[in-house]
Amino acid sequence: MKKKITDLDKVLLLADRPIKDQLLLKDRALAATAEGITISDNFQPDNPIVYANEGFERLTGYSIEDVLGKNCRFLQGEQTDQNTIDEIRRSVEEEKPCSVEILNYRKDGSTFWNLLSITPIRDDSGQVTNFLGIQSDITERKKYEATLYNVLAKLKAQNQRMVKDLEDARKLQLAMLPADLPELPHLEIAVEMRTAQEVGGDYYDFHLNGDQLTFAIGDATGHGLKAGTIVTATKTLFNSFFTLDTPQEILTEISKSLKMMGFRNMYMAMLLAKISDKDMVISSAGMPFAYYFKASDKTVIDIELKGMPLGGFPEFKYQSRKINFSQGDTFLFLSDGLAECFNPAGEAFGEERIKDLFEQMAPQSAERIIAEMTQAAKEWVGSSQPQDDKTLIVMKIK
Ligand SMILES: Cc1cc2nc3c(=O)[nH]c(=O)nc-3n(C[C@H](O)[C@H](O)[C@H](O)COP(=O)(O)O)c2cc1C
Repeated sequence: MKKKITDLDKVLLLADRPIKDQLLLKDRALAATAEGITISDNFQPDNPIVYANEGFERLTGYSIEDVLGKNCRFLQGEQTDQNTIDEIRRSVEEEKPCSVEILNYRKDGSTFWNLLSITPIRDDSGQVTNFLGIQSDITERKKYEATLYNVLAKLKAQNQRMVKDLEDARKLQLAMLPADLPELPHLEIAVEMRTAQEVGGDYYDFHLNGDQLTFAIGDATGHGLKAGTIVTATKTLFNSFFTLDTPQEILTEISKSLKMMGFRNMYMAMLLAKISDKDMVISSAGMPFAYYFKASDKTVIDIELKGMPLGGFPEFKYQSRKINFSQGDTFLFLSDGLAECFNPAGEAFGEERIKDLFEQMAPQSAERIIAEMTQAAKEWVGSSQPQDDKTLIVMKIK
């Protein structure tokens, strides 16, 4: 079997050769390496170079004759970082090894990035006689790093802009909501709006005209600033049209105006109700069911009013439903956020669960109903992130 050659064997093999051969071989090896290799003499004033290999000549453009007897600082220039030079000087003074990345200049004036490592060489007594310098060209890596750094900086700036846009959109969304809830002798109102991380387009509003209340709850398609824009437009239009006689008329007028404004592929779902002291007339443009709890027989009725969202088909004939209410009757209006909130297993909360919960809770106060439903949604969602805004409005007849 062939014997494995160990490192010791190699040293012994080399040692067997005449000294001149050994030196020649080491010299050839040093000349062949791509790295620059330099040795300085610590005993001479200013630590000059006493050896440089061909790799150093190739890297710097200086010949060995050019550099012998000189301190290696001649490679530095105007743009070389002074802190890095100081770092090298300290290491050399303290006779410690160091490794730095330094901008150096070739003989022809062009620059290159030098990964420089300097190691002290000690004699048998421990005195530093020389320093070994190894120079590697890392210009390509540095260029690559600079490109990467630029790309990262751009991405960071872009991300900051997006975060700011989202914050603006959220502020806009919140600014669209009424500051106070209307106070009417026969009506108890409670509202809960939770905005998702990505701003959605939930909206609600009230207008009191004499003792008639006009109420709106809406949900814009899309998210972010786009949704914010259509909500702003809808609020302005609601302010102008709320005095019209019926909710259908208001929906139709808002829809026509939104269509004329030319929002592309952006629509507004909206439910409107006109509430007097004895009845409520409801009309809906693409909003989820509303729920009506009739206190006298303790049942919940779905108020399903099919209708196209606003801004798409202005000629659409909206339906309406009139409910003559009595004391204790309770209404629940909501955006689709609650039915469509998902638990970690991916199941939606769903309309049935909303209806059951509302049936149980409806005899309670409006505030309490909202609190219980919000809590149920929170428990359902658990650790998963809310995907959409959730708006719940409860109105109870006093
Ligand atoms: C062996 C050796 C090799 C060196 N090689 C380089 C080099 O390639 N590039 C460089 O900018 N400095 C190099 N230096 C560092 C400078 O020679 C010098 O130590 C440094 O500029 C700090 O000293 P100063 O502030 O007196 O200039 C080397 C130093 C030693 C000892």
